[in-house]
Amino acid sequence: MNEKLLDWFREHPDQYISGEELSRRLQITRTAVWKQINVLRAKGYAFDAVPKLGYRLVTQPTRLDEAALLSKLAPGTFGNRLRILEKTESTQNEAAAWAKEGAPEGAVVLAEEQTGGRGRQGHVWHSPAGKGVWMSIVLRPRIPLPYTPHLTLLSAVAMFRSMKKLTSAPLGIKWPNDILADGKKVAGILLESAAEDERLLYVIAGIGISVNLDAADFPEELQERATSLKIVTGQEVDRATLVAACLQEMEQLYRLYEEEGFGPIRTLWEAQSITLGRQMTVETPQGPLQGVAVGLDESGALLLRDKTGAVQKVFSGDVHF
Ligand code: BTN
Repeated sequence: MNEKLLDWFREHPDQYISGEELSRRLQITRTAVWKQINVLRAKGYAFDAVPKLGYRLVTQPTRLDEAALLSKLAPGTFGNRLRILEKTESTQNEAAAWAKEGAPEGAVVLAEEQTGGRGRQGHVWHSPAGKGVWMSIVLRPRIPLPYTPHLTLLSAVAMFRSMKKLTSAPLGIKWPNDILADGKKVAGILLESAAEDERLLYVIAGIGISVNLDAADFPEELQERATSLKIVTGQEVDRATLVAACLQEMEQLYRLYEEEGFGPIRTLWEAQSITLGRQMTVETPQGPLQGVAVGLDESGALLLRDKTGAVQKVFSGDVHF
């Protein structure tokens, strides 16, 4: 009921809606409307109430609301098993612990704030309260262990598509899985997995999207390299809507991958890549490599043509243009 009422207000921004109209639309008594408004006020929604005009939604809480998120997901899809935490060290740890206890594929852990958010290559992931999507998804893919990087690229395409759907941000994918806007990082993915006897037990896809951060929310050392959807578009994005879009894209691409393998995912990734055709240095665990990126191989490795014309396969590393 709360959600229907809220949807009505959200569809009529800045308008007063009379108690009578709400009661008619929602087919509840006016007293029930008034009670629902008070329930929402207790959850942090602010309403103006003007005699003869009715109610107007003034502000919405910035917290991720479980009911609001679930109402955006089709039953049985990714995210229907959901834990939203106020504060945690890393959603990766929570999701891994849940996976060990038997969490099903598609189970999701979200946090308002992470105190020890992890990035790739041992980087720290800045995760302040209430401003981002800090999310981990449990996957149980039936694929050989060496194919795991496919899921990294798949997740990057899913994030790219969900952000593109909801914003006008000029986005591109940097190998393997950074999403850049205006040349700065706006989102990243960390895949962590557990295996036994060469068999994957589970993969935790950790997704970090800097959504509504202002420049001042980033530590000084990150301000040159990191940005948020709000900074690049000038508009706040509803995080629950973004999470729902991200989960839908993720599941759709995951099913495509299960049915058709890496081919279509590679094509989609390459289409949105800002890496291909560019001269770059890749800091690999074996040292820096320089060259022009010419594509991905079937394992997801980056193909880098060096100045001698030889093509090298890069399996992991940080790309610098
Ligand atoms: C990167 O680009 O370096 C990857 C960043 C991944 C950050 C996300 S936020 C949710 C999940 N929990 C973590 O500790 N890390 C991932």
